[in-house]
Amino acid sequence: MNAIVSVTNDWGIGLKGRLLVRNAKDMAYFKQNTMGGTVICGQTTFQSFPGGALEGRRNVVLSIDPTFSAPNAEVYGSLEEALTAVEGEDPNTVWAIGGESVYRQLLPHCSCVLVTKNDVQMEADAFFPNLDENEDWEVASVKEGGVTKAGIPYSFVTYRRR
Ligand SMILES: NC(=O)c1ccc[n+]([C@@H]2O[C@H](COP(=O)([O-])OP(=O)(O)OC[C@H]3O[C@@H](n4cnc5c(N)ncnc54)[C@H](OP(=O)(O)O)[C@@H]3O)[C@@H](O)[C@H]2O)c1
Repeated sequence: MNAIVSVTNDWGIGLKGRLLVRNAKDMAYFKQNTMGGTVICGQTTFQSFPGGALEGRRNVVLSIDPTFSAPNAEVYGSLEEALTAVEGEDPNTVWAIGGESVYRQLLPHCSCVLVTKNDVQMEADAFFPNLDENEDWEVASVKEGGVTKAGIPYSFVTYRRR
């Protein structure tokens, strides 16, 4: 499995349930990479999607709430159940897409992480583990992205497990 995430300089990923940086080009990058595959997310992140389940992808959602359900989404009450559900999939097409709690639980299962690095400091209450300080991970490639409408420079960095 892989993960895909957008971070600020201190690996912040969200504040009060929302993304930190708006960037249509990054959304397109996310879509291009995950389309046709399986996405795994927490209930909080899933509820933040304006249109519900992400189209063209198998949506796997984690929640311990037995009453939680959503069209076109499979809900599992534990990490083990979710992992079992995706066992038959090509691991390269299974994506951890957040939020913080799900990234932390699934990172040990990931072999590659696509990180959109936004060169900005912003207040955050959700974070991705800092891969630059983790010797299990190395940078495989860096591609300059450009500058967001709000003037934030960003790049697409691929980390791979050593
Ligand atoms: N920058 C990015 O790329 C990015 C991507 C995604 C999300 N985010 C941000 O991340 C933040 C949300 O992160 P978060 O950690 O608060 O929420 P989250 O990971 O999206 O969801 C947490 C919820 O998932 C369920 N869950 C998690 N692990 C579970 C398990 N092992 N078994 C059963 N249920 C489980 C629980 O739902 P129940 O309470 O229903 O049991 C838990 O409350 C938001 O600010 C969002 O914008 C950022």
